[in-house]
Order: sequence, then structure tokens, then C-alpha cells
Amino acid sequence: MASVGLVAEIAAGLCAAQANVSPKYFYDAAGSALFERITRLPEYYLTRTEAKIIETHGEEMARQIGPGATVIELGAGNCEKARALCAMIRPRCFVAIDISADFLHQAVDGLRDAFPSLDVRPVVADLLGEIVLPGDVPSARRLVFYPGSSIGNFDPEVALTLLGRMRGLLGNDGALLIGVDLVKDEAVLEAAYNDAAGVTAAFNLNVLQHLNRLLGADFDLTQWQHRAFFNRQKSRIEMHLEALHETRVAWPNGFRNFRRGEHIHTENSYKYRIDDFAGLLGRAGFSNSLRWTDPEQWFAIFLARP
Ligand code: AVJ
Repeated sequence: MASVGLVAEIAAGLCAAQANVSPKYFYDAAGSALFERITRLPEYYLTRTEAKIIETHGEEMARQIGPGATVIELGAGNCEKARALCAMIRPRCFVAIDISADFLHQAVDGLRDAFPSLDVRPVVADLLGEIVLPGDVPSARRLVFYPGSSIGNFDPEVALTLLGRMRGLLGNDGALLIGVDLVKDEAVLEAAYNDAAGVTAAFNLNVLQHLNRLLGADFDLTQWQHRAFFNRQKSRIEMHLEALHETRVAWPNGFRNFRRGEHIHTENSYKYRIDDFAGLLGRAGFSNSLRWTDPEQWFAIFLARP
């Protein structure tokens, strides 16, 4: 089970008028594996489009950044993108930050095998909490790498705060390389979160299994269904779990009854217009930014400097 503080936080979310769970709870071992499958789905264009942009414009990115930098990847996951990036920009130190400890240590071993001379440091941390880097991580020429449009999980005001903190990690000679999913045709957006194989549905439902373990709750997964849709007004994909029947969920210190059709909000994934995201970077203290996109302008990578 999780710590007393975490349990209280999760329970408060479940008991809120609009029940909610933070998307960070998607990523237990099973959820991380399901997310990896998502990144390979035909409908889920994000990962592949971002990789293609790095492939196409990597040389120019590498020229901009130069060799010998210290790369700090946020939400490193399986470190697959890190490999492509390291091969191109040749950093001297790589700090991999992720909330999933098990997954991270495995991934970091793979990265060390691939780049024997690279100084690789795993750091387990929640991006919304304090990020403490090991004391001997170089402070000069840092590159914060935040790929995958993970910034999209946060409401824009929170995203702004996070970007400001990244700006703080960088000093004045660093840069931020960040991937951002863009607003596009609603059908394309919605298909990416409602794949035909049902992997996203399994990923969404898995959060209940994770809560059963974290909280000692008794969610019955057969009582819930996956929902995902684009909220145009808020420019975000929303994911929810909807109760198929009236159902009761209990855990050691509480319970909640859900009516049929009531739902738990599990994730937001904001989609930006290029200029809006550039504006956010400006407000966070980045005065200078380059950007690359794919030919359809589905996804963008920004290289932002103080
Ligand atoms: C990892 C947050 C970028 O929002 O697209 C994928 C997570 N959720 N399918 C996203 C996710 C459902 C993903 N991010």
C-alpha cells in the first residue's frame, strides 16, 4: 500500500463531486507496459510523429545544442527516445527522471550498455514535487528533454509553473527540448485515444487495478468502461472511466457509491496551437525558441532558451 499521505490524496479524489484520479497512477508496471503498446498503435500518431521529427531535424538540433551537454530527461520511461537523442547530440551526462522506479532502473541499464562512456543517472521523482538532482550533476550546458507531449497532462497554468521550474534548472546557458501535440482534426485526435485494439481502454481501466493495490480498494473492473473524447472548448482530450451499473467501491477508510453513468476523470491531454505554446514558453522565461514540425503539423518540437 501507498503512504498515508498518498492514500488520503487518492481517496479525496475518488470522493470529490467529480471523482478523479491523477494520470500519474497509470504507470505501475502493467500500465507502463500498456503505454509502450499504445505508442506503437496505428492510431496513436504522437510517438511516431515526434520520432520522425527528431530523425528529420536531428542534425540541426544537434548543431544547435553541441556535444558534451548534460541531458535531463523528464518522464524518461523506457529511454527509447533518449537513445536516438544521445546518438545524435553526444552528451556527457544523462539524467533520467521518472516516477516509476522499477521501469527506470531497467531502462537505464539498457542505456548504459548502448553508450558505455555516457554518465547515466536515474532519479526517481514526481515532476510536481521537488526535483533534487545528485550534487555532482554538471550545472553548465544543461538540456532538459521533455518529449511525448507529456506537458499536455497539465492544465495550462500548471504547465506554465512547470516550464518556469525547468527554466530554473537550466541556468543561463541551457535549453529546453520539448515535444507538444497540436490541435488537429477531431476524428484523428479521438481515434488516437479510442484505438480499435482496445489497448487504451485497458490502459485506462488498469488504473483501477493499481488503486486496488495502492489503496486496498475493491474496484470491480467489469463494472467500468473507457471513455475518451475531445473537449474543444478546453482544447484537450479527456479520459474517463464510466460506471456501467450502479456500483460501490470501498477501501480501508472509506467508500463511494457510483450511479450508473457516473464517471471518474482519469486524464487530460491538452492540444496546443503552435503560437499558444510559444506564448507559454515566453511567459515561463524562455525568450528564444526554435521549432520543428511534421509536414501535417500534427506535432511540434520546441528548442527553447532563456
Ligand atoms: C504520455 C501523457 C503524452 O496524453 O497522449 C496515451 C498518455 N493516455 N493514451 C497522452 C496517454 C492515453 C499520453 N501522454
